[in-house]
Amino acid sequence: MNIKTITIAAVLFATACTPKSGMDKYIDDLMSRMTLEQKIGQLNLHSAPGFISAERVTEEDENAKLLRQGLLGGIYGSGNPELLRQCQEIALESGAGIPLIFGMDVIHGHETVFPVPLALSTSWNPSLVERMARISAKEAAATGINWVFSPMVDICRDARWGRIVEGGGEDPYLGGELAKAYIYGYQGHDTNYDTDEVLACVKHYALYGGALAGRDYNSVFLSRQEAMNGYMAPYKAAAEAGAASYMSSFNEFEGIPASMNRWLMQDVLRDSWGFDGFIVSDATAIAEEVNHGIGDLQEVSALSLQAGLDMDMNSDGYIGTLKKSLEEGSISEADINRACRRILEAKWKLGLFEDPFRYLDDARHASSVYTDENRAAAREIAHECQVLLKNNGVLPLSKDARIAVVGPLAQDPMAMTGTWAMSSHARESVTLWQGISEVAKASYAEGSWLYKDAALEDAVRYGLYKAFVPGFQAPPVHITPQSALIAEAVAKARQADVVVACVGEIPNMNGEGASRTDIGLSDAQKELLAALKATGKPVVMVLVTGRPLTLVEEDARMDAILNVWSPGSEGGRAVADVLFGDVNPSAKLTTTFPRSVGQLPLYYNHKNTGRPHPDDAPYKKFVSCYIDEINAPLYPFGYGLSYTTFEYGPVTLSSAEMPLDGSVTASVTVTNTGDRDGDEIVQLYIHDVYATSTRPVKELKGFQKVHIAAGQSVQVDFTLTAEDLSFYNHDLEWVCEPGDFEIMIGSSSRDVQGTMLRVQ
Ligand code: BGC
Repeated sequence: MNIKTITIAAVLFATACTPKSGMDKYIDDLMSRMTLEQKIGQLNLHSAPGFISAERVTEEDENAKLLRQGLLGGIYGSGNPELLRQCQEIALESGAGIPLIFGMDVIHGHETVFPVPLALSTSWNPSLVERMARISAKEAAATGINWVFSPMVDICRDARWGRIVEGGGEDPYLGGELAKAYIYGYQGHDTNYDTDEVLACVKHYALYGGALAGRDYNSVFLSRQEAMNGYMAPYKAAAEAGAASYMSSFNEFEGIPASMNRWLMQDVLRDSWGFDGFIVSDATAIAEEVNHGIGDLQEVSALSLQAGLDMDMNSDGYIGTLKKSLEEGSISEADINRACRRILEAKWKLGLFEDPFRYLDDARHASSVYTDENRAAAREIAHECQVLLKNNGVLPLSKDARIAVVGPLAQDPMAMTGTWAMSSHARESVTLWQGISEVAKASYAEGSWLYKDAALEDAVRYGLYKAFVPGFQAPPVHITPQSALIAEAVAKARQADVVVACVGEIPNMNGEGASRTDIGLSDAQKELLAALKATGKPVVMVLVTGRPLTLVEEDARMDAILNVWSPGSEGGRAVADVLFGDVNPSAKLTTTFPRSVGQLPLYYNHKNTGRPHPDDAPYKKFVSCYIDEINAPLYPFGYGLSYTTFEYGPVTLSSAEMPLDGSVTASVTVTNTGDRDGDEIVQLYIHDVYATSTRPVKELKGFQKVHIAAGQSVQVDFTLTAEDLSFYNHDLEWVCEPGDFEIMIGSSSRDVQGTMLRVQ
């Protein structure tokens, strides 16, 4: 026997001798009693709208019919415990009597809503994200839901893509730290699921945020190396944190749709990262592979299953065609068994075989959802998620000032709630008007339409409802003329000491299916801001948005800009806390704000070119730049102001040299030079000077949020090892190449000081 044969024999022997776990024995036994149809049924996930009534199951329901035949493994999209209970009862009485799992898009809260995920990322605070996910899991679990379709960890470098709002921004390192926090928050830190912990579902695997030109669902053209270095770290971090499931994405990668991409699902996710849970398709993603041009539904379903996709969401490709494919020999029973086992394992781990109703507890729902305590947490969390983009000193406001609160988003609760909040009390979210008028003397005017084009405004406001609510009648838009709205706002502004203008995007302008080619404020809102500015009163712009916008004009004209994103259930109060200085803002951008849409994709961790040009320098022939715009963004990654100021001392290293197996400490002293206490997010970047592949000009490798009292200094230390200096080389090996590295520390990706480290 050669060494290889001995090794294989040893592995086989060990496997044969390893006693089966209780879970394996249970599932072996269960599967031995299941019919082929029942096994395929476990691979089928349907949305709750397959029920005619959101309240109860009726005889005519499509989903009920499938349930009675044992042809559903789970249901998603209902937050109604009564409906879920009825479904579970039917599932247990039918077929093999296997309990369902219940999924839901719990994205930034369940009934209590927190800031949208992009906003959460600007806190640069993993423990805050974990706290948010923990509360969300508790609320979801108390409603009967045991599987949340979160976190969304798609890296995005192009603000035209509306789904940038759902993720953690453009940086893979920060994205990875946040991904882990979400997983721990939803699932806990161990492998047991308490009744208030739920399965996480990491999405969208993979590279969905690379959609060409920011157009949703578009193709992704990235090299494997760029994908691994620039995009994959958050998916990997989530696997390492024990994520229970992944959702495959709509896009293709290397000419193969992600939902049938064996390299992504098997080679990378399972074989290389050790993921052992199940993968569900995105909604109708298998059926969409027909449009991608791979084959008919039967063919693409077979290919998806074989590539490692376990569960079919809403395509009916698996229940509709797998049996036929098996009869024709294009798939094997082992393919079906493998997928079925993974789903049964998830149900076993959730404890559903022991007690299928363990998540359905009416008393728990009544006492632990949308509570005062959870809403207070939403307010606190929102404090850390507001980015002060500009301030000429007008902020913070005095509570004695007369304030004109103006703008089409100022009294809109949905603007505070944000996208993907289906189970929330969306219309009860505290508006900015409410938040301000509770504590100061204020007047209100709507101020403007959303868009000057009524058809566009109608489509943006009501497109979502038209798509999902049969017979929906949209209320008319543009009832009051724009000129009258502006006149009223100007009159209110004239009587005030300061204007707070709440403008930006309503939630339907970001999220899924909401790409934009012009990412400036809308024409109607710009007109309002110009009229307000002309009054001579100071204007504070409160920006509600789910994506970076182009704000060159506003940056020049407004006295202050506070970007509050969509801050959640308690949004208006949390924003007022910052406007009046009860809370000192500390958030920093996790996405670059471009000056112009023509600069996109724009991201801080770009490569150098052979003909680089300084970011702020004007046009020059034959170097890498534009005729009509500088290369610099308006607001860079990592940027955000405070009501105080921080000064950074020089960066020092514990040693200028580091052996490959050693470590080094980089330190900086940060001083609060203002007269208010504040939190500063200290960022560490590296640059690999020469490498066998080109490397980004800067890469974030560490961050710390520190509280510094007025006039005080703190020393901030970062430990670096070869791991922090490694990257995927051309052969996709993770390597740290000896040589020189620039180590930079600062307050944003633009404002850093550096020193050199030699690795040998
Ligand atoms: C989205 C997913 C979501 C799923 C289920 C899809 O359209 O892309 O993010 O989880 O729907 O609602």
